[in-house]
This record gives sequence, structure tokens and C-alpha cells, in this order.
Amino acid sequence: MVVTGGARGIGAATARLAAERGYAVCVNYRHSREAADALVGELRGAGARAIAVRGDVGDEADVVRLFETVDAELGPVTALVNNAGTLERQRRLEDIDAARLARVLATNVVGSFLCAREAVRRMSTRRGGAGGAIVNLSSMAARLGAPGEYVDYAASKGAVDTMTIGLAREVAAEGIRVNAVRPGIIYTDIHASGGEPERVERMKSTVPMGRGGEPGEVARAVLWLLSGEASFVTGAIVDVSGGR
Ligand SMILES: NC(=O)c1ccc[n+]([C@@H]2O[C@H](COP(=O)([O-])OP(=O)(O)OC[C@H]3O[C@@H](n4cnc5c(N)ncnc54)[C@H](OP(=O)(O)O)[C@@H]3O)[C@@H](O)[C@H]2O)c1
Repeated sequence: MVVTGGARGIGAATARLAAERGYAVCVNYRHSREAADALVGELRGAGARAIAVRGDVGDEADVVRLFETVDAELGPVTALVNNAGTLERQRRLEDIDAARLARVLATNVVGSFLCAREAVRRMSTRRGGAGGAIVNLSSMAARLGAPGEYVDYAASKGAVDTMTIGLAREVAAEGIRVNAVRPGIIYTDIHASGGEPERVERMKSTVPMGRGGEPGEVARAVLWLLSGEASFVTGAIVDVSGGR
């Protein structure tokens, strides 16, 4: 399994659960080298096969190298979790410049496309592969729009939803299932990137279940979608949002 942005947050929870369930795991990271190395050490200590590979998912050469490294060290990918995602400081659309749009779209949209491309090239039975499954991390923001916070981020996740539906149908007869998870408000450091580390506390009263979610609660949905338990599920977008 390749987990992009796997060193922390939802990605790390997914990598841990995947290792527990017997996957050999590639933890991709961009900046969090120490966290990635520590996580890989932990997974190996528990008996799993795991590697850490640096790479910016928005950089095509990095993505190609990431999957080639996995080919060489773990064997061709059978499960991809397009988890790497980014948002920037809370701001109204009228104050967002082109450089920020390019950064957000490069990671959230271009990154998801490039990683999916490399995975499909290896998984597709049309190309001699053994099949596989892809899960994209979308967001409830795709439906809610994140007004006053980050409409750019929300729109990038709308693109992820659309890619999920299109790619799922494109490769459905080639042994590949493609689904997405739309987390609601989850306790991770992403909110600090938006300039509001305590955002979950402020927002949790808007969640029908009355609380924020834990990364592990998202990871369990991801692992279900990747598993044989979800063998007839493709093109689905699963909300993991406490009813929000
Ligand atoms: N937390 C929430 O409330 C929430 C809600 C809805 C959706 N999501 C989505 O869930 C996913 C994980 O979010 P999170 O909350 O766990 O975020 P997080 O704690 O901020 O972690 C983000 C991860 O993405 C990686 N990343 C960012 N840009 C990257 C790039 N260009 N190339 C490779 N890796 C990159 C980071 O790697 P480095 O640290 O190595 O740079 C980090 O591991 C994201 O797609 C996010 O949009 C989160």
C-alpha cells in the first residue's frame, strides 16, 4: 500500500491500521522525514514491511520515482491511499492569489491524479496487472464550500470527488476499484495550517454527533473500502463526518 502524506494525521493512522492488517506499507512524506522514519520504525518493530519515501505529490518526477521505489522494494502497488492534502490560512476568496491556488491545486488535485495514474498503470489487468484499489481523501468541504475559510481547498476536493467517479468508471472492468472518503472535522494538525489549531473545538457543536472525529475513525473507513469486504463498491464517496 502507498499512503501519500503518511507520516502524520489521517495518513499515519491509515498506515498503522494497514500494517496491522498485513499490508506492506510505503509511507510517503514531503517535509516530515523524522515522523516518517519513526513511524516506519514502529511498523517494522511490530513485524510489518514498511518503507519511507520522500516525494512531493505535485511533482511528476517525484511521483514517478516514488512508485518505482515501491516496485523495487515492496513490489507493485495494489492499494493506493491518496491522502496528501493541504490548505492555507483562512481567507476570503477575494484575497486568494494565483500562487496559493497553484500550491493547493498542485497537491490536492494534480497530486491525486498523478498518483492514481502511476497506480492504474501497475494495477490494470488491461496492462497485465493484478488489479487493486484506490481511496481518495476528499472532504465534507467539497459539499459545504468552506466559506470564509478556504473555498480554494473545498473546490480542490470537489475535483477529487469528480475524479473518483470518472476514474472508477474508467477502470471498473480492469480489476480496480476507486472510492473516496469525505472526512468531516477531524483532530489533526491541518487546522493549524489554516491558522486555527483549535478549530475542531469551535466547530464541534455544528456536528450532529457533537464531537470531532479521530484519525483512526477515518482510517477504518479507508481500510474497509480497500478490502474485499467492499468488493462491489466503486465510485462511492463515503462521508465520515458524524452526520455533518
Ligand atoms: N483533518 C480534517 O479535519 C480533514 C477533513 C477533511 C479532509 N481531510 C483530508 O484528509 C487528508 C489528510 O489530512 P490530515 O488532517 O491528516 O492533514 P495533516 O495532519 O495536515 O497532514 C497532511 C499530510 O499531507 C502531506 N502533504 C501535504 N502536501 C504534500 C505534498 N505536496 N506531497 C506529499 N505529501 C504532502 C503532509 O506531509 P509532510 O508533513 O511530510 O509535509 C502530511 O503528511 C487530506 O487530504 C485532508 O484534506 C482532513
